[in-house]
Amino acid sequence: MARFYATAAALLATGAHAITPSEMLSAPRRGVASPNPSGDLAVFSYSQYSFEEESNAHAWHLLDLKTGKISDTGINASEVSEIVWVPGSETGIIYINGTNEDAPGGVTLWMGDIKSPSSSKMVASLDAPYSGLKVANTSSGDLHFLVNAKAYENGTAYNPETAVTPKSTARFYENIYVRHWDTWVDKQRYAVFAGSLSAKSNYALASDGMRNLLKGIDFTTTRPESPVQPFGDLGDYDISPSGGIYAFISKAPQLNKANFTASYVYTGLFNGTDAAKAINGPDSEAAKAGHQGASGSPRFSPDSETLVFTQQDQDYYESDRVQLYAVDFAEAEGDAVSVTNWRALTPNFDRWVSTPHWAPDGKSVFITAEDRALVRVFNIPLESSADYQPTSLSPNTSYVSDFAVLPDSTLLVSGNCIWSSRDYYTLSSSGETGELFSSTKVDPELAGLGPHTFSEIYFDSVLPGYDEQIHAVVIKPSNYTANTTYPLAYIVHGGPQGSNANSWSTRWNWQVWADQGYIVVGPNPTGSTGFGQKLTDGIQGEWGGYPYDEVVNGWQYVHDNLKDVNTDQGIMAGASYGGYMSNWIQGHDLGRKFKAIVTHDGISQTQAAYSTEELWFIRHDYDGSILEPSATYDKWNPFNHIANFSTPQFVIHNTLDYRLPESDGIGLFNVLQSKGVPSRFLNFPDENHWVLKQENSLVWHTEIFNWINHYSKGLPLDSEPIGQ
Ligand SMILES: *[C@@H]1O[C@H](CO)[C@@H](O)[C@H](O)[C@H]1NC(C)=O
Ligand SMILES: *[C@@H]1O[C@H](CO)[C@@H](O)[C@H](O)[C@H]1NC(C)=O
Ligand SMILES: *[C@@H]1O[C@H](CO)[C@@H](O)[C@H](O)[C@H]1NC(C)=O
Ligand SMILES: *[C@@H]1O[C@H](CO)[C@@H](O)[C@H](O)[C@H]1NC(C)=O
Ligand SMILES: *[C@@H]1O[C@H](CO)[C@@H](O)[C@H](O)[C@H]1NC(C)=O
Ligand SMILES: *[C@@H]1O[C@H](CO)[C@@H](O)[C@H](O)[C@H]1NC(C)=O
Ligand SMILES: *[C@@H]1O[C@H](CO)[C@@H](O)[C@H](O)[C@H]1NC(C)=O
Ligand SMILES: *[C@@H]1O[C@H](CO)[C@@H](O)[C@H](O)[C@H]1NC(C)=O
Ligand SMILES: *[C@@H]1O[C@H](CO)[C@@H](O)[C@H](O)[C@H]1NC(C)=O
Ligand SMILES: *[C@@H]1O[C@H](CO)[C@@H](O)[C@H](O)[C@H]1NC(C)=O
Repeated sequence: MARFYATAAALLATGAHAITPSEMLSAPRRGVASPNPSGDLAVFSYSQYSFEEESNAHAWHLLDLKTGKISDTGINASEVSEIVWVPGSETGIIYINGTNEDAPGGVTLWMGDIKSPSSSKMVASLDAPYSGLKVANTSSGDLHFLVNAKAYENGTAYNPETAVTPKSTARFYENIYVRHWDTWVDKQRYAVFAGSLSAKSNYALASDGMRNLLKGIDFTTTRPESPVQPFGDLGDYDISPSGGIYAFISKAPQLNKANFTASYVYTGLFNGTDAAKAINGPDSEAAKAGHQGASGSPRFSPDSETLVFTQQDQDYYESDRVQLYAVDFAEAEGDAVSVTNWRALTPNFDRWVSTPHWAPDGKSVFITAEDRALVRVFNIPLESSADYQPTSLSPNTSYVSDFAVLPDSTLLVSGNCIWSSRDYYTLSSSGETGELFSSTKVDPELAGLGPHTFSEIYFDSVLPGYDEQIHAVVIKPSNYTANTTYPLAYIVHGGPQGSNANSWSTRWNWQVWADQGYIVVGPNPTGSTGFGQKLTDGIQGEWGGYPYDEVVNGWQYVHDNLKDVNTDQGIMAGASYGGYMSNWIQGHDLGRKFKAIVTHDGISQTQAAYSTEELWFIRHDYDGSILEPSATYDKWNPFNHIANFSTPQFVIHNTLDYRLPESDGIGLFNVLQSKGVPSRFLNFPDENHWVLKQENSLVWHTEIFNWINHYSKGLPLDSEPIGQ
């Protein structure tokens, strides 16, 4: 450790140091810190890519919560994909080993102690690639655990390595929703599985093996699936600390997956034989009170008697406000469990509740919520009045990735921000922080980054009835000097229900853009999240409307007020909805203010948005399905304004982006080329909506920066795309 501090200190002393794409991409990446039951140690994943070796090094690191000292656990991270602390132990662990010598394609469970991991023992051999381990230590001493894997329709876990490969590659459908995100739908669905490790027999897997908890659930339209794909993980299910009850999320079984976002919380007895039942399904109190949208994050109280979960109201609006609810469990009757006392905990909190974690006394729940370009921590008492307004506990420079609650109610927070890829710190209930680790003080790649490059501006909104101003983040180059001007890099975020935040990203890293010699301005116009639901909702039927006018206001504000920004040499860029907005800007007057435009995976033809599987999304955002004459597909179609396309434009569109198919990018490029507008097209056949592989990301950065530096600063266009 000392060695790392010395290196960083030496670099800090040299002063301003611009961060390059390869430095950002090859800097260490650290996961969320998971504390042991007694709260004195935490384990986290560590990985670092080397461009020299063309490979990633993985490790499991241990953070001492008293001293902040970090050490390697010695656990081989090429073999171990997950580590979980055994509740009730000091330093006992159970981990998933990704190799299984007896069942190819399967995994094994091992138990041991973090202090002597080499003496771990294998306790279970599982014949499918299970992941997402959660463990309860029951009063009998048996361990009850949950994992997930894809399963056949008959409930058996699916192992792709041993499954019979069909002779044809055909994909054949008779229902809407044939693919999503980057994956074509096949016959298997994810399911949560339960297993018991018996204390009496050295924690061997109990004889009933792995039980599929989704088996037996009735459905009319959509086969139940948990975790909910593509982003669902172990956060979609939970086991009570007693080990007696489980809960998981699945999409609504009576609604088709393309048209609706609705999902429910299912619960059941761990040792029961009855099929799991939805507690907030169509006939529930929740539904009757108008809460029918997507559910999430079921979490059992320390006494196993109460469950909190999140839910949205509307059944086809993915960006509706996310609220927190609680239910109590009644005494189990036979094989069934029933819930009572359903109640809303945050009915008037105008933010989206996420990542609930119970306080040890069971009297309140800590949550995170996006709030004014940060993610902050709040506490929600179980007994609070409907108008309760929580105040943020976390520092106003920390974007909280996740946190854990230690036995004394102190929080262990894993955060980040524009100048740090990872911070670990403790947070008391009165808001006092104790720094344990900051990547910027340790990683040579990040040396010199700091809050001095970050500021915020406000300008006028055009959203009717919205009485606040529009927010934007501003990031200066690391080696900024006064009395110089820097070209504007104006960046519109995706979503559109998303934000330009004070957060670290390995895909759109503001400091890396600024350190090409630009001042980055990232506006949060109508549609943005974290500034209240009214601003978020305001974009419905307004894709090129209010947000465009506000982006124009923001540009004008920068032009008139930020004397160090050269708007004449400015460029603009955006991905996803930001890519759509780039294309809209290209057809409108603001497009003439930029030297170059960059579009990553954006819609260019709104009618073609019907190639997506997220029909719920466009039905909501364009004010109706494409079949409804009042919908706004044509009104906000960038291709209606091709006549004005004239600013040099760099187009990126990836093949595995199934929500926004690559034909949108190719069509856009073909139009630009046909009109003689300088343009280039970059495609990654192996990337989805995001560019995740370091070598691909380096090319992405290199070619985009090559383009903007040419048109903004006159540097040579020095790369050679594929020719005629
Ligand atoms: C870690 O595991 C991988 C895969 O089994 C193996 O190739 C490698 O040698 C192991 N490393 C160490 C240090 O044992
Ligand atoms: C389960 O918790 C009990 C205390 O409640 C503890 O004695 C026991 O060691 C724990 N089991 C394991 C495997 O660590
Ligand atoms: C993982 O399992 C393999 C055999 O399947 C074994 O050789 C290896 O030691 C195990 N690694 C760990 C860290 O448990
Ligand atoms: C379930 O279906 C799969 C694939 O057809 C088959 O391999 C497996 O044996 C079946 N399981 C049971 C319990 O019938
Ligand atoms: C199942 O679990 C419940 C609650 O944990 C318990 O009351 C009941 O006795 C258990 N039944 C069996 C058959 O183990
Ligand atoms: C954060 O808080 C500090 C001290 O409380 C204050 O000086 C600073 O202006 C705040 N920053 C933001 C961005 O609100
Ligand atoms: C910038 O200009 C101001 C006013 O002309 C001057 O006082 C200041 O010293 C200059 N700063 C630098 C770093 O050159
Ligand atoms: C600042 O960094 C940029 C990018 O690395 C570099 O081109 C420029 O010369 C640097 N400027 C100063 C004043 O160091
Ligand atoms: C999906 O919803 C639209 C209304 O937006 C409706 O016209 C269509 O029939 C629905 N499709 C299916 C398969 O339910
Ligand atoms: C092109 O821009 C001009 C000037 O703003 C505007 O009058 C015209 O309507 C635009 N044409 C199209 C097709 O958008």
